[in-house]
Amino acid sequence: MPFMFPYQRPRRLRKNPTIRRMVRETSLSPDDFIYPLFIKYGKNVRKEIKSMPGCYHESVDMAVRHAKEVYSLGIPAIILFGIPEHKNETGSGAFDPQGVVQKAIRAIKNKIPELYVITDVCMCEYTSHGHCGIVKDGDVLNDPTLELLAKEAVSHAKAGADMVAPSDMMDNRVEAIRIALDGEGFPEVPVMSYAAKYASAFYGPFREAAESTPQFGDRRTYQMDPANRREALKEVALDIDEGADIVMVKPAMTYLDIISDVKESFDVPVAAYNVSGEYSCIKAAAKLGWIEEERAMMELLTSIKRAGADLILTYFAKDAAKLLNR
Ligand code: PBG
Repeated sequence: MPFMFPYQRPRRLRKNPTIRRMVRETSLSPDDFIYPLFIKYGKNVRKEIKSMPGCYHESVDMAVRHAKEVYSLGIPAIILFGIPEHKNETGSGAFDPQGVVQKAIRAIKNKIPELYVITDVCMCEYTSHGHCGIVKDGDVLNDPTLELLAKEAVSHAKAGADMVAPSDMMDNRVEAIRIALDGEGFPEVPVMSYAAKYASAFYGPFREAAESTPQFGDRRTYQMDPANRREALKEVALDIDEGADIVMVKPAMTYLDIISDVKESFDVPVAAYNVSGEYSCIKAAAKLGWIEEERAMMELLTSIKRAGADLILTYFAKDAAKLLNR
């Protein structure tokens, strides 16, 4: 007598690759990705970042070539980070018209105008102490920092950036940047705010890459406490009120619940930053033969999209696009 009881057999819809493809709920596309580039001063520089295999420090000339490759893979956007030649207390390199990022924007927009160029707006790569703003008595001053961030955003827009993305987590910076952009004739440049950005250990490899590790203390007085969930919705609501066009959750892998909450609660596009540590963990485990790199990568990216991300900032963008284009 066969076992007759269960009429429900979910395995029927997993029988073969075709039916699995037909009922698949989430699919990735290169359109989803934003690829980060690290721009360094100099010429003909292309140096792999040790803790982030497959990612490079590049001078502007090399970055242009790289950007072409990114666009040819079907990835619509890049986000630029700059590593200036000199850093100082106030991070004035951030709004230097001849700064590395400003030069890179001009060169890339000139050669590949269709590629959407986003810039990271923050002070930490430009300050000698590595904090995201002006420091006094061991902490970052909020309101004086806003002026610098606004100047930085405007200088990126002047260089031709399509979108600016403040990652500093100062209060009210979206509004400060929006007002400055509008005042300087850039009302059409959108702001993607790193709205719910957590104080995460998973930024470790990036800080090596951007040479932006704080020289003292940490970022816990401005980035969010990883234990908090409701607070993320408050941060996102504030940024939308202040004029953010896209809101970001960062990191992604350990904050899928937050991505899902934000997606449920608001009607603006949601971005998620699949950060350096998430990338490096998979790369390192794969190198040791402990994990299947391609499958782990696709599973992670799919989970971020499934959680609700419309856009994914990821160092895997090129690898994933190559797979998806196959
Ligand atoms: C700058 C910034 C950071 C990242 C993006 N923008 C680092 C930080 O806050 O320390 C992290 C990106 C990554 O880890 O991939 N504030």
